[in-house]
Amino acid sequence: MDTYLETGRLALRRFTADDADLLIELDSDPAVMRYLTGGDPTAPELVRERYLPNILAGYEKWGGDLGLFAAHEKDGGAFIGWFILRPEPEGPLDEVELGYRLRQAAWGRGYATEGSRALLGKAFTELGVRTVWAETMSVNHGSRNIMEKLDMTLTDTIPTPSDMEMVEGSEHGGVRYEITKEQWEQQETPR
Ligand SMILES: CC(C)(COP(=O)(O)OP(=O)(O)OC[C@H]1O[C@@H](n2cnc3c(N)ncnc32)[C@H](O)[C@@H]1OP(=O)(O)O)[C@@H](O)C(=O)NCCC(=O)NCCS
Repeated sequence: MDTYLETGRLALRRFTADDADLLIELDSDPAVMRYLTGGDPTAPELVRERYLPNILAGYEKWGGDLGLFAAHEKDGGAFIGWFILRPEPEGPLDEVELGYRLRQAAWGRGYATEGSRALLGKAFTELGVRTVWAETMSVNHGSRNIMEKLDMTLTDTIPTPSDMEMVEGSEHGGVRYEITKEQWEQQETPR
């Protein structure tokens, strides 16, 4: 396995061209897609023709250091979903987005927090990142809880993108959280 990062329970790796079915299955669960599309699955041809090629192109662009990474349980190897650590397409490399999308079977076990915490550490200590940001819908409490557990700071409210207006709770808009390298270092320093 082309391991990118390991945590106590998880191994993150780069996706390959053979992984379309994992992504299609993940996005076929209405509960997973609830705050992303309102529950609609992602069309399999979109995954095969656009999403997966974009993920692989990202590894080329960022030398395999940034992008979308598949997460597996170290114990048994089950695919549990993915994490993102990725700059904007034309943005600076030291400002990256953190994101996560996990299979429902893996929820509620602290995996999103565990993977995200390790990604923050890698970003700030190995990858030269200065700021990590994350955005979600205001009503996506599961996602916001992770950002708060990581001691990220709520920095802004954001409008709902026009293609998400049909999503439940979209009238409440979205939120942006950030953490800087300095803030992360302070929280790592024993007080
Ligand atoms: C959001 C998501 C990543 C959470 O993953 P997870 O592995 O269950 O998260 P964790 O177990 O690390 O939970 C983090 C905290 O949030 C809490 N939490 C999880 N889901 C919650 C929910 N629906 N409502 C309120 N709190 C929730 C957990 O209890 C935990 O807090 P605690 O440790 O104090 O109990 C997962 O539910 C998911 O992939 N959802 C679908 C995709 C999605 O919405 N992604 C985010 C888009 S921005």
